[in-house]
Amino acid sequence: MTDINLVDRLSRFARVDLCHLPTPLEPMAGLGRHLGARLFIKRDDATGLAMGGNKARKLEFELGRWIADDAIDTIVTVGAVQSNHARQTAAAAARLGLRCELLLEDRQPASADSAYRRSGNVLLDHLLGAAMTVVPADGSLETRARDRVAALRTEGRRAVYIPGGASTAFGAIGYVLCAAELAAQCRTMGVRPRHVVHATGSGATQAGLVTGLKLLGMDVRVWGICHGPPPSKVDRIRARVEDLERALHIAQVVDPAVDLVTVGDYIGDGYGVPTDAMREALALVARLDGILLDPVYTGKAMAGLIDLIRTGRIPADEDVIFIHTGGAPGLFAYPDSLG
Ligand SMILES: Cc1ncc(COP(=O)(O)O)c(C=O)c1O
Repeated sequence: MTDINLVDRLSRFARVDLCHLPTPLEPMAGLGRHLGARLFIKRDDATGLAMGGNKARKLEFELGRWIADDAIDTIVTVGAVQSNHARQTAAAAARLGLRCELLLEDRQPASADSAYRRSGNVLLDHLLGAAMTVVPADGSLETRARDRVAALRTEGRRAVYIPGGASTAFGAIGYVLCAAELAAQCRTMGVRPRHVVHATGSGATQAGLVTGLKLLGMDVRVWGICHGPPPSKVDRIRARVEDLERALHIAQVVDPAVDLVTVGDYIGDGYGVPTDAMREALALVARLDGILLDPVYTGKAMAGLIDLIRTGRIPADEDVIFIHTGGAPGLFAYPDSLG
């Protein structure tokens, strides 16, 4: 299938316009020279929607379907305190004239940076007009959110629960489309990608990218670098792929045993806990290419990419694309750890 056919096939899905697309594909000349590798970066930190990131692409489809049915006036969603998904969902709600309630799980120890609970994404959620409730990390987040949706519906609101990371089959379609965009850019720029590296969590970004690249017949290994335990997210990503295949009416395009690759070696002591390799990655990319990564997701993913090249698991003569999935507002939640 060509990228044009793929875009055409996805055009039957309802969508709202939230993103600045296409995001640029750029050479990473500085880090590439430093590592002796052929590196490119897909700037999904530049999707727009309140400082960019991968959730904007997902929300175009996930919210699009509810809006098309006139079935939504209030969004209830979940994430960590410094969730980028929460920030971009709050921005989407503001743009679309919807109410937004965020349930944010406090996963960090009390000793976390003093700014963690009030700056970065939290500050922006507040500015964007979202109602925020911080809850303990006791496993009840999704139940609390669903209960809240039920209560709002009883009050007559058209409330909808959007899962964390907007990781639904519809959210993943945003990244199938990203694969088509990437393929077109690679053709124009003469890039022959053999490896795509990105931060993986709830799995919809990876599910969409892998499915899209397979539909396009591209021989690319997608490395999902995990940012939190459990380190292996393959089962979760496989579930997202299966949901996506059902939505697209396709079958077994992705072979999970071969096509779904996750690496859990760069998490360190846990979700959102800084590592030395993350700090090195942030500093190298900032100083050699003038690009800001984030401390929770893309910093650890870039630490993974650097290590995969240094250890030869990604050969230095093969074209590598890093997907910058955003998150830089989170930098301001870590002044003590990064300053
Ligand atoms: C900046 C950033 N990168 C990557 C991810 C992971 O994306 P996904 O949940 O689709 O695996 C997230 C999600 O929380 C994120 O905020």
